Amino acid sequence: MVLALALSANRSCLCSSTTFHPHPLLNPSPSLHFSPSTFHPQPLCSLIKQHIIPQPSHKASIHRRRCSNSLATADAQFASIIALFQDIGIGFEETQVLLCNNHDLASVPIDSLHVRFLSLRSLGFDPLTLCKLVTKRPTILTANEIDPLLTFLRDNLQGKLEKQQLNRLLSSTEQEFLESFPQKVQFLVDRGIPVDQVVHVLNKVNLSKVLCRRSLEEIDRTISFLEPFGGIALILKRPQILNHDLDTQIVPRVKFLMELSDGDEDSVGKVLLRFPIFLNYSVAHVEEHVGFLSSFAEFDYKQIFRIIQVYPAIVTTSRERKLRPRIQFLKECGLDSDEIFKFLIKGPTFLSISFNENIAYKLVLLVKIGYRYRSKDLAMAIRSATRTNCGNMQKVISLFLNYGFSCEDIVAMSKKQPQILQYNHTSLEKKMEYLIEEMGRDIEELLLFPAFLGYKLDDRIKHRFEVKKLVRGRGMSINKLLTVSEETFAGKRKKVMP
Ligand SMILES: *[C@@H]1O[C@H](CO)[C@@H](O)[C@H](O)[C@H]1NC(C)=O
Ligand SMILES: *[C@@H]1O[C@H](CO)[C@@H](O)[C@H](O)[C@H]1NC(C)=O
Ligand SMILES: *[C@@H]1O[C@H](CO)[C@@H](O)[C@H](O)[C@H]1NC(C)=O
Repeated sequence: MVLALALSANRSCLCSSTTFHPHPLLNPSPSLHFSPSTFHPQPLCSLIKQHIIPQPSHKASIHRRRCSNSLATADAQFASIIALFQDIGIGFEETQVLLCNNHDLASVPIDSLHVRFLSLRSLGFDPLTLCKLVTKRPTILTANEIDPLLTFLRDNLQGKLEKQQLNRLLSSTEQEFLESFPQKVQFLVDRGIPVDQVVHVLNKVNLSKVLCRRSLEEIDRTISFLEPFGGIALILKRPQILNHDLDTQIVPRVKFLMELSDGDEDSVGKVLLRFPIFLNYSVAHVEEHVGFLSSFAEFDYKQIFRIIQVYPAIVTTSRERKLRPRIQFLKECGLDSDEIFKFLIKGPTFLSISFNENIAYKLVLLVKIGYRYRSKDLAMAIRSATRTNCGNMQKVISLFLNYGFSCEDIVAMSKKQPQILQYNHTSLEKKMEYLIEEMGRDIEELLLFPAFLGYKLDDRIKHRFEVKKLVRGRGMSINKLLTVSEETFAGKRKKVMP
């Protein structure tokens, strides 16, 4: 009956032969194949019976009769595998395809299959993932070489590898590379990755590429190359760096920064530690940025590297959409190359914050209170304003207006002390209250000494005022009171005190 079905089956066959062969469990010869599509959905046990009950008309029946003792065992094994696979959602037909294509599955003792399943489950594989893994790579259940790896993952890594990483590792790495995994992890630890952080690294890198396919020598070379530039600290900060190829990506990219910095390993290391994603960008990309800054802003390499040091994310900023219009704006405000450079060193985020939702809004505010459009003063004010949000800036302006200052006063003060527009409005208000109520001063003194608003209220203003008020009374110069250094202040105080 099975034979008839097989011959009449018109569907394409997954295996190489279209003729019926006995189930490999019954005749475990490697050349045996059969098509799963020859079976119609029927109750499981009857299907198994069709397999193992000798068909009198079939030539294999002679063989079957001879080894009828093993038939019961084979029957039980087949049923167990079907049941085992069904547990993780692999159906009868799929199981047959698997058995048909992987003769090891049929020959491995059912107990060790069970153990392997439990082992994988204990590593965190849920049935669905396990189903996909086993379907894609059935040798995961049979290969003995996997055992040390699974033990390592469970005991040494304490099952802490993320499920997705584990799955990628097991499903897409060739067996020969997989076996070296424990040794390579150990090597990372030997090379200085702290044991308690190695899993953090493993969870972030492409394990197949970085650990399995790469030789120990290559891993070693990569770590050695990175040593002067942060080394292990850099790897821990962004393990994905290891995904890059050493010779075609990491080396040329670091070399380019080295040239720009005039060979300053320390500074290049600091840039990378601060912004490891820099290494994501190709030399061609960074070169274009550098070329642009050099031609459009007329910066020299030293200046460009300096900007990269304070703002490495400039590499992610679009040249045409952001860099060009903003530098153009600064030029229109009358800044020359050196002034643009100083501007960018102090307020580099000006290059990347949103124009429409941020800069434009602040420009409107500044122009409203009296800044002349396209003036250097406006550029300075906008530089300060990059460090605050529009809401705070508006509140700061309202606060000054509420205390009786005019717009001209605000512009005058912020020209003297551009930061006043970036200060937190809550703390500005507290300082202004203290100035008037505790120190008994006139708020207009701020016009002469707006820097007052930049000192810390508790640490400097209150502290110094408390110390001096008895000696000097209310007439003291708040400028002198606050601007002298801590040492001078402490020294002078000792002389005054008996
Ligand atoms: C990991 O690296 C391998 C080999 O280079 C590549 O084929 C695979 O797509 C990578 N996997 C991921 C998730 O990026
Ligand atoms: C860095 O590059 C990799 C590919 O090389 C990419 O998958 C990743 O998203 C990039 N990361 C960032 C932050 O650009
Ligand atoms: C401003 O300062 C107050 C306290 O001085 C603080 O609670 C508030 O979060 C600050 N606001 C901003 C935007 O930093």
